[in-house]
Amino acid sequence: MSKKIKIYVCTEGKKCPKRGGKDVARALHKAAEGTGDQLVVKECKCLDLCKKGPAVVVMPDKVRYGRVTEADAAEIVSTHLAGGEPIKRLQTRK
Ligand code: FES
Repeated sequence: MSKKIKIYVCTEGKKCPKRGGKDVARALHKAAEGTGDQLVVKECKCLDLCKKGPAVVVMPDKVRYGRVTEADAAEIVSTHLAGGEPIKRLQTRK
């Protein structure tokens, strides 16, 4: 049985919504359509990556992505669904 993936995207913090966080969330939801319950996109409050927003965290792998764009959404979903390596160009620390 494959693990369940949760993608958290900051849409309620102070910075990310102003930088397109809600657009990223919308794109992630769209990219996740048809993946069943194996992958869930959750909108959330601040992920403590404000300077790198829009911020996304993928669990359970604890992969942190910063400066995510709508165009990155499909790649994030497909990469993590496939269990592949995280997308290095988007990975960030605090
Ligand atoms: S405001 Fe989005 S990570 Fe803090």
